[in-house]
Amino acid sequence: MTAVLDRVRKRLTTQTQELGSETTVIRSLDWDRDRFDIEFALENGTTYNSFLIRGEKVGLVDTSHEKFREHYLDELTRIIDPSEIDYLIISHTEPDHSGLVKDVLALNPNIVVVGAKVAIQFLEDLVHQPFERLQVKSGDRLDLGHGHELEFVSAPNLHWPDTIFTYDHKSGTLFTCDAFGMHFCDQRLYDEDLPPLEADYQLYYDCLMGPNARSVLAALKRIGELPEIRLIATGHGPLLKYHIPELVERYRTWSQAQAKAQTTVAVFYLSDYGYSEKLAQAIAHGIQKTGVLVETIDLKATDPQEVKEIVEIAAGLVIGMPSQTGECADATHAILSTILAAAHSKQAVGLFESGGGDDESVYPLRNRLQEIGLTEAFPPILVKETPTEAMIQLCDEAGIDMGQWLTRDRTVKQMKSLDNDLDKALGRLSGGLYIITAKKSEASSAMLASWVAQASLEPLGFTIAVAKDRAIESFMHVGDRFVLNILEEGNYQPLMKHFLKRFPPGADRFAGVKTYAAANGAPILADALAYLECEVVSRMEASDHWIVYSTVSAGRISKPDSLTAVHHRKVGNHY
Ligand code: FEO
Repeated sequence: MTAVLDRVRKRLTTQTQELGSETTVIRSLDWDRDRFDIEFALENGTTYNSFLIRGEKVGLVDTSHEKFREHYLDELTRIIDPSEIDYLIISHTEPDHSGLVKDVLALNPNIVVVGAKVAIQFLEDLVHQPFERLQVKSGDRLDLGHGHELEFVSAPNLHWPDTIFTYDHKSGTLFTCDAFGMHFCDQRLYDEDLPPLEADYQLYYDCLMGPNARSVLAALKRIGELPEIRLIATGHGPLLKYHIPELVERYRTWSQAQAKAQTTVAVFYLSDYGYSEKLAQAIAHGIQKTGVLVETIDLKATDPQEVKEIVEIAAGLVIGMPSQTGECADATHAILSTILAAAHSKQAVGLFESGGGDDESVYPLRNRLQEIGLTEAFPPILVKETPTEAMIQLCDEAGIDMGQWLTRDRTVKQMKSLDNDLDKALGRLSGGLYIITAKKSEASSAMLASWVAQASLEPLGFTIAVAKDRAIESFMHVGDRFVLNILEEGNYQPLMKHFLKRFPPGADRFAGVKTYAAANGAPILADALAYLECEVVSRMEASDHWIVYSTVSAGRISKPDSLTAVHHRKVGNHY
């Protein structure tokens, strides 16, 4: 009971702390938020961080999510009289940081809102009232006095097109909002204890920053020209103070690896505060799993020249169609014409449409693209309601399909590249035959696995190597639960054949298969020899696979005298 009460009490809290140099952070702690962008498991909640800098003038960097309206405004007005705030700096306009802009302006309508050109335009739609504004770009400075000279750094696409960073020359603090953040809710303010944060830091990068690896590299170059950065004041999770060079370097390494990929897919979406972006992210995430570089482009905040250049070099196009009846239809019409003019027959294409009415404007566009000769990588995805977990999973799988189609030549080449003897010798490594099954809300997945090995006795644990481009990878992050079904010698063919099939995006892997639910919610295959209920504890990156270490909490065997089916292979360069 105490634990339940504690959880209720903890649901939304704030934490205000002096950072030194006349700077204060107000953190909105969202302990239980379990869903953010696409596949964030968010086992660890998230925070929205806002900062107050007091020179002769006072600047507020970002606000909070609207769900914190009461908490945040109470805290802000407790630490400062709003009439003393001169500037409100908007790092980007996504509502988790800008959800209370209107409320702050209501407290003091004279505040000057500072942001990139695109941010100011977005805010006009968000605030619906006149406000004082200061439009800034890279290199512009704003002097708050007492040495707090703020320098702005343009960082488009990290994570929205309107993103700016703010560097305070007095404190050496770089305010980065989404960049270098993580969805991790904890009372600890800083990153002093890195190991528990690492998986969240990387997952956050993969989902939010990876789709714009080139933009990340451009932003890193710009911040490299700043004087010493002593604190990275992020908008989510802990502030970075103790491991800045190492954590920045990880962004560089991951982005360089992405940017090296020769195959690029351009993903166009519409940042309408709706679902288009979430679907685009999920598709982009799936594509990235196959090692293909993704460039995500907001139809609302791009220009025809940029579009023409990216479409010309892209091997694939994903287009999130705005509804023809939507208010942005006119604004995006010219961009769509540019895409059609630059598209060519060697490209793969995938379309999706979110929100809007029943016009299904995706189909005329599909016809035009088929006339040009593009290959459809997945059927159009139409989403009229709030995307469910299953729909997000479908998008992820559609992205994987497109990526695998684009890299099919590379896969065949890799299979042929090993020396014959080595190839055969490696093939003598053998393993059992297993099927991993997992479920998260209404989304589920399964995969045939043979690279499974016991790895620890206390606690009981084992590893599975999971290829990065497998759909089930999304169900095997730290904290996720799944079942390992062990197949029986002489009786494994029907299950193996079923799960080896190529399923279309979103298809139910368990249709026609007898299952029952494990205590952890994952499906147990009734015809398996045995099963283990497992929880992922850690993951190690191993080139094109993840080595997933999991512990086992329960298990049963149906026929104690039967043996495990063994996978004997001829060669070692593929499964
Ligand atoms: Fe944390 Fe892109 O908002």
